[in-house]
Amino acid sequence: NTIKWVEVNSYDEMSEVAANIFTAQLQAKPDSVLGLATGGSPVGMYEELVKRQQAGQISFKDVKTFNLDEYVGLEQSNPASYWTFMHDVLFNHVDVKEENIHLPNGKAADLAIECQAYDARIAEAGGIDLQLLGIGVNGHIGFNEPGTPFTSLTNIVELTESTRTENAIYFDNPADVPTHAITMGIQSIMNAKAIVLIAFGAKKLEAMEKLRSGVVTEDFPASQLLNHPNVTVIYGGTK
Ligand code: GLP
Repeated sequence: NTIKWVEVNSYDEMSEVAANIFTAQLQAKPDSVLGLATGGSPVGMYEELVKRQQAGQISFKDVKTFNLDEYVGLEQSNPASYWTFMHDVLFNHVDVKEENIHLPNGKAADLAIECQAYDARIAEAGGIDLQLLGIGVNGHIGFNEPGTPFTSLTNIVELTESTRTENAIYFDNPADVPTHAITMGIQSIMNAKAIVLIAFGAKKLEAMEKLRSGVVTEDFPASQLLNHPNVTVIYGGTK
């Protein structure tokens, strides 16, 4: 496989290396289409990008963003929604235009139509130039849980108990974690021209080892990245 592995010594170093890739992308193509992710992994990178934007090194004024996923049933204004998360950590602090920000709408009246429309919006924007990914402990990317067909497009998924437990920290009560989410599919992710996956810490050790083993299987969703021509994995703290 052609994955480029970059080992780092700290979370901050991971954030900086990832921010450098996004900075280079924005400098080369100011109207880039960025695929963005939520979770604890990307927060440091977003903070770094905010600093660089405020220092005038990069701009988001012509950038379009598409987030990977959103919970089903949460209002945008819900503090635990990915819409709120993204505004808190990135969008509210940079010069991105609100109309260029896209997240799947987990409150859409017809979720099946929303799924199709989301892939169509990405295609209309010209496709994703650079996609950021975190990884779940079970190898999920976006919310594509083990067993998801590699051919999947944006779809509604039922979250596994492991994922609901992992994400419970963002909710007042673990029982409040939604049971379903709307996520870009594995194929929607693979359509990105370039992909950066970030993973730091012992919790991600097993997932990194599985990815490194080179076995491609739908039981481990991230393994499909081994079939993508332009993936960089920035990882560390896993031993
Ligand atoms: C959630 C998100 C994933 C993310 C994962 C890991 O399940 N839907 O996109 O990769 O969490 O999150 P963290 O980076 O906090 O470990």
